[in-house]
Amino acid sequence: MTDDNKPVDEHSGLQTTGHSWDGISELNNPLPRWWLYTWYITIGIAVIYMILMPAIPALPGLGTNTPGLRNHSDRDNVSLAISEMQQKRQSDATALLDASLRDIETDRDLQQFALAMGESLFGDNCATCHGAGGRGAKGYPVLADDIWLWDGTLEGIETTLRHGIRHEEDEDTRFSAMPRFGQDGFLTAAQISDLTEYVLHLSDRSDDPEAVERASGNWVAQCSSCHGDQGKGDRTQGAPDLTDADWLFGDSKRDIFDTIYHARNSHMPAWEGRLDDASIKALAVYVHSLGGGE
Ligand code: HEC
Ligand code: HEC
Repeated sequence: MTDDNKPVDEHSGLQTTGHSWDGISELNNPLPRWWLYTWYITIGIAVIYMILMPAIPALPGLGTNTPGLRNHSDRDNVSLAISEMQQKRQSDATALLDASLRDIETDRDLQQFALAMGESLFGDNCATCHGAGGRGAKGYPVLADDIWLWDGTLEGIETTLRHGIRHEEDEDTRFSAMPRFGQDGFLTAAQISDLTEYVLHLSDRSDDPEAVERASGNWVAQCSSCHGDQGKGDRTQGAPDLTDADWLFGDSKRDIFDTIYHARNSHMPAWEGRLDDASIKALAVYVHSLGGGE
């Protein structure tokens, strides 16, 4: 690369590029070999890449982008992956339909699928009432504990989902009706006040033993058929245990008085017909897994 016309630097004896800035000139050193070859190789790779792979943006003059010899397309790959996943999901959903609830819980793959499906269905259909993850709210039972109003087994939960609770249009719905003791005039406000003390005493929170004593006759006559002699509840009637610290409608004197006076008889929609069978199964498995499934 020496050029006889270029001046030579007098200190180093090397040729310069011939340009001079304020008396400073640059030595015309050759590029290091390793650098030069690496550079040639990258140019080669770029050309090969452009031939094989789609060139983005389009090469000038070609109008559209060139697909390359390998005809590679990220878009096609993504839609292929999606359709494969949909096929897998379809076959998982069919498997869900064919399997019994117990089978689903023992087959890891199927269980994972059911849980994922159940979780998203729960967010869409159930969380408005039962809260995210089934943590419950006043009047809406916690589903993530081991306290059940009705049957907490897999099959029991499925039945609850299918037919709802006090859902008039479904003749297989879970049903019971606590009388509206005050509102319908079965008991006086004073009697209900005493019964409130009685309920409080079931969880050791009453400080009025005389009221409890006065209410005990009414408890046996009016309440124990559903809530049990000891107040432990009865799942065949959806009657809650009144001796624990779990309260559906609030644990204050006021709340308990109101419950006895008006009765709540709350309602849960039936999902049969609104959700398909695979979805109901997936939801049953999901709810069962939340922590308190039996
Ligand atoms: C409109 C509000 C509402 C919606 C929506 C709702 N629920 Fe409920 N659910 C209730 C109420 C209220 C109860 C309690 C009824 C009672 O007093 O027995 C209940 C009870 C239940 C129970 C029985 C709990 C027990 O302790 O035995 C299960 C299980 C349940 N719901 C699951 C679901 C699932 C799963 C969904 C979504 C598909 C759902 N719920 C949607 C209001 C709702
Ligand atoms: C026919 C059955 C039945 C009878 C009789 C009955 N209950 Fe209930 N009770 C229920 C059911 C079912 C629930 C919960 C579901 C609902 O109301 O939504 C309930 C709920 C309650 C609650 C609310 C518990 C909570 O967790 O918030 C209290 C308190 C209660 N009952 C007290 C009584 C008392 C006191 C009597 C008697 C005067 C009585 N019940 C009679 C069925 C009954």
